[in-house]
Amino acid sequence: MELSVVILAAGKGTRMKSVLPKVMQPLAGRPLLRHVVQTAQTLKSARTLVVYGHGGDLVQKAFAADALLWAEQAEQKGTGHAVQMALPQLPASGRTLILYGDVPLTTAATLGRLIEKVGSEKAMGLITLEMVNPAGYGRIVRNASGAVTRIVEQKDANDEEKKIREVNTGIFCVPNALLHKWLPLLQNNNAQGEYYLTDIIAMAAADGVAIETVQPEQSWEVDGINDKLQLATLERVHQRVQADNLMRAGVTLIDPARFDQRGSITHGMDVHIEPNVIFEGRVVLGNNVRIGPNCLLKDCEIGDNVIIKPNSLIDDAKVGAGAEIGPFARLRPGTVLAENVHIGNFVETKKAVLGKGSKANHLAYLGDADIGSGVNIGAGTITCNYDGVNKHLTTIGDDAFIGTNASLVAPVTIGKGATTGAGSTISKDVPDGTLAVARAKQIVIEGWQRPKKKS
Ligand code: UD1
Ligand code: CA
Repeated sequence: MELSVVILAAGKGTRMKSVLPKVMQPLAGRPLLRHVVQTAQTLKSARTLVVYGHGGDLVQKAFAADALLWAEQAEQKGTGHAVQMALPQLPASGRTLILYGDVPLTTAATLGRLIEKVGSEKAMGLITLEMVNPAGYGRIVRNASGAVTRIVEQKDANDEEKKIREVNTGIFCVPNALLHKWLPLLQNNNAQGEYYLTDIIAMAAADGVAIETVQPEQSWEVDGINDKLQLATLERVHQRVQADNLMRAGVTLIDPARFDQRGSITHGMDVHIEPNVIFEGRVVLGNNVRIGPNCLLKDCEIGDNVIIKPNSLIDDAKVGAGAEIGPFARLRPGTVLAENVHIGNFVETKKAVLGKGSKANHLAYLGDADIGSGVNIGAGTITCNYDGVNKHLTTIGDDAFIGTNASLVAPVTIGKGATTGAGSTISKDVPDGTLAVARAKQIVIEGWQRPKKKS
């Protein structure tokens, strides 16, 4: 049976107290809805349909590149009404999985077990959970032989029903033919005056459709998010799961509670990560990489045996094997470092290529620079790459030595093996193997008297 996925995402999320629609709130750096859409993709759904309401434009814009179908629910009249909005876009046959834009962490494995239960138009499935404190949830009512007969919402439940601890998570898988049959029959004569999706359970029981229940591996898989406190709680759960996976794969995390992965990490063996390191985008780490505390690594490739010292920022850069970065280094987009390069404290690089073994150990800005191998960049070196309108290139040949406090006014080329004197402003090309000094000559005044205070 072909699979469709419907994601309910029309809720406003008032308790978020944010201008951002609830499903756009980030978990691990991505909107809540992104997590659900990605899971739907791994299930190979033939179509994924999002029911939107509040902030729909913003949501649709953020997902413009995804092949999603959209259905508007202008007024929120209940979960059953929300699925009704999707109905015209659901084929007559196949099965539909109903998910929620604010329940981000359900695993594909759990959903797979649910979908498996729905192999014909004689069965539907839902995910339920046993809770110690079920207050607020819809309760699963079973008959004497244990079969599910209906779901009763908290607000409609009597005292006996309120004692039931098996709750509805809201995640259903239903044959399309049955959705087309049942949804138009929903009524809103209940405590909340809403069209409840949960009422289709009683219809299934009446129609002799088997109602299968599946439990999640872990309870956080079905946790929904309504406020920032729940968002932060689930963020830590998710980060811990990712940290556990990395540790099982051999990565040393000094403190898995102080670790944030907001994208993908590929790694070799013996990677060592100190506390408070944040990974964003696609990060590739080689063997034996050591990352000190308080670093941010985003979209970068780090070679074998690299040492990244504390408080370094690496964004869209490639770092060759054996390099040493930081402390307090900032590698900006377009930085490519060959093997054994050293970038030290308060050095900023942007669109800078450094060859094997080149060093910039202290206080420098290297922007739009093509630097050879074995080059020594003195403290205080600045590539003056911007003339106020255009950016220009600084080229430095192999084995050049740039004295401290140099201003390299681009476009400019420093030849191979050339040396520039400390404090020089280099605005003309320096030929290979020469020394360029461009600073005022020192004068010495003998017998100089310091001014004295007038009496
Ligand atoms: C629902 C279930 C309840 C279950 C609980 C689990 C119903 C009637 N009740 O209750 O059995 O225990 O979820 O959390 O289904 N939504 C729309 N449009 C609407 C209404 C809701 O898109 O008109 C979306 C919301 O954005 C939210 C989700 O559906 O993501 C659930 O809605 P909510 O009102 O929170 O349902 P509950 O009352 O919690
Ligand atoms: Ca709810």
